Amino acid sequence: MANPIIEPRVSDIRTILDRQHNGASSLLAVMEEIQGHYRYLPREALIMVSERLPVPLSRVYSVATFYNAFSLTPQGRHRCQVCTGTACHVRGAMQVLDRLETLLGVESGETTEDLEYTLDTVNCLGACALGPIVVADSTYEGLMSSVKVDKLLKRIRREDAERSAAADAAEAARQTDPPPNGGAERSA
Ligand code: FES
Repeated sequence: MANPIIEPRVSDIRTILDRQHNGASSLLAVMEEIQGHYRYLPREALIMVSERLPVPLSRVYSVATFYNAFSLTPQGRHRCQVCTGTACHVRGAMQVLDRLETLLGVESGETTEDLEYTLDTVNCLGACALGPIVVADSTYEGLMSSVKVDKLLKRIRREDAERSAAADAAEAARQTDPPPNGGAERSA
């Protein structure tokens, strides 16, 4: 299978940096945009950020490792977080985590080889009454169980397949649609 990691391109990073004109004060904004683009912070990008803003590379790395939103390694397209706070724990969070680890073939803190899923744990999310909770791509799924984990992953995969089919259909339609002028230039 082809490596799905988006390789950093100097031109992409330059484009992101060109949008920011506030020097060192735009460090967080630049890093958020790079994280959003690549789903991680490639080393090449951080070096360019450091030189361009300019900000010491050590400062860039300390920001990158301080915030949970940033990652120095490629992240999955989908993120599943299991709350392992006390309330969720006593309600079966570890069984939920076990099931996700089994189905995805990774342990907490890891990303699947195909870069589809990153699995990790979080502390109390403040919605203990709904525990155990899984946050799937920012959506809270409450009262989770092993069975519900199976259904959740099936739903995510089905929605991915539907989106992909819709994109393929749109692309096919774009290629078969005649151009607005009917494809023929009329001579005067
Ligand atoms: S312990 Fe999970 S939401 Fe509070």
